[in-house]
Amino acid sequence: MSTNLIDIKGLNLWYGENQALHDVSMSVKPNSITALIGPSGCGKSTLLRSINRMNDIIAGCRVEGEITFHDKNILAPETDVMALRKKIGMIFQKPNPFPMSIKDNVTYGPRLHGVTDRESLDKLVEECINKSALWSEVQDRLGASAMSLSGGQQQRLCIARALSVNPEVILMDEPTSALDPIATNKIEDLAQDLKKDYTVVIVTHNMQQASRISDYTGFMYMGKLIEFDKTENIFENPSEELTERYITGRFG
Ligand SMILES: Nc1ncnc2c1ncn2[C@@H]1O[C@H](COP(=O)(O)OP(=O)(O)OP(=O)(O)O)[C@@H](O)[C@H]1O
Ligand SMILES: [Mg+2]
Repeated sequence: MSTNLIDIKGLNLWYGENQALHDVSMSVKPNSITALIGPSGCGKSTLLRSINRMNDIIAGCRVEGEITFHDKNILAPETDVMALRKKIGMIFQKPNPFPMSIKDNVTYGPRLHGVTDRESLDKLVEECINKSALWSEVQDRLGASAMSLSGGQQQRLCIARALSVNPEVILMDEPTSALDPIATNKIEDLAQDLKKDYTVVIVTHNMQQASRISDYTGFMYMGKLIEFDKTENIFENPSEELTERYITGRFG
């Protein structure tokens, strides 16, 4: 048994003829925050999407290698992808709440999975919105449209929605890049809070953000994972010259 929650081994990925990931191997520890950094187009989102098989829906995408989650290879054809995405949720760059009420955004997933009892659903709404640090701002307007929330509130609602199906891992792809600094702070604090109960993998362009909130950082360049280590080592004492150049802004 591995002490890692996720083990990625020798991952290669192609979009048609173009290889986007080259022999990527890394591990994710439970109850940690792992950040993926690197220049645009280096494969961060591709790697993140591989972890819950979101690349499956891209025509022409082919994957080789292994990704184990609880020691089971999730790339195996027999994987129940629906169940996997329940355990490994995803938050995107642009908040994407469903065009329905705040409350219904949170109950949507559980209902789909068969929870119908009103009391349980109400409890879940409060629990998840509380965990996503949004409760005090919306408790009096749970029936209002999610679209009436600010961008930062919408993103926290999306996090509440992800939490509603009881995941273990939350993948976040540049979750704050569309937000102002205050909303960004809230999401950063929230991510740190979440790691008590969940495991977070976050893609970010913002190196301060990676160094502030993550425990481990992977630096990617041209589809390769150049270096992966504890965050303090990556930012204070990287082993690779490429990493050093990137984090000190002497790149290109
Ligand atoms: N759906 C797709 N179809 C074909 N090629 C794709 C697709 N998505 C990404 N790619 C290609 O794969 C490579 C890696 O893209 P990816 O989106 O993973 O990079 P990224 O590091 O997330 O970049 P950014 O920081 O700009 O979001 C790029 O060359 C990109 O053009
Ligand atoms: Mg991306």
